[in-house]
Amino acid sequence: MKKKTIGILVGSLRKDAYSKLAANHIAGLFNNQYEVIFIELGNLQMFNQDYDDEGTTPAEWTAFREQVKSLDAVLFVTPEYNRSMPAVLKNALDIASRPYGHNVWNGKPGAVIGVSPGHIGGALAVSAVRVPLAFLNVRLMMQPEVYLSNVHQLFDGQGKLTDESTVKFLDKFAAAFRIWIEQ
Ligand SMILES: Cc1cc2nc3c(=O)[nH]c(=O)nc-3n(C[C@H](O)[C@H](O)[C@H](O)COP(=O)(O)O)c2cc1C
Repeated sequence: MKKKTIGILVGSLRKDAYSKLAANHIAGLFNNQYEVIFIELGNLQMFNQDYDDEGTTPAEWTAFREQVKSLDAVLFVTPEYNRSMPAVLKNALDIASRPYGHNVWNGKPGAVIGVSPGHIGGALAVSAVRVPLAFLNVRLMMQPEVYLSNVHQLFDGQGKLTDESTVKFLDKFAAAFRIWIEQ
């Protein structure tokens, strides 16, 4: 039987992003049971409805919309920018929500993970991402909430998650998300 596919969307384009390190660890918790793919967001032109209206939809938008449509679950791993979500993530949410009536996020099971070197672990970014996802009818898992605070202290020099309590907590998150996807 074909494995279900989880798409991971990372809210940072930075090459050394902590959110990418966290996403890599989390991908490893799922990839025995699921196909896990990282969705590219950095190549998406800024949303402008004219492209769709005038028949000049960028090829990257079309490919992205098709890729999101094909997913069985979506997992967002994001830093917090100025107490909200990074623009690259909002742009991606908007692109795959349109043209009107073609919201490809619709009905997918999903979860959001916050990442920050600060103390509140990107909680406001998570909260910000949840607002459009609720409107877009993503079936959001609300618990356990995952806010990876002081994230710069959680990984070794090779990018491996070494903080034991975080490893255990993410195992719990993964177990819950598996159930959520299969429900
Ligand atoms: C434009 C900008 C705004 C930021 N705002 C916040 C913020 O509101 N809260 C926070 O915890 N960190 C904030 N930071 C710091 C980021 O958490 C930090 O740069 C983090 O490493 C970015 O995530 P990444 O490592 O995944 O790229 C901000 C960083 C940038 C570049």
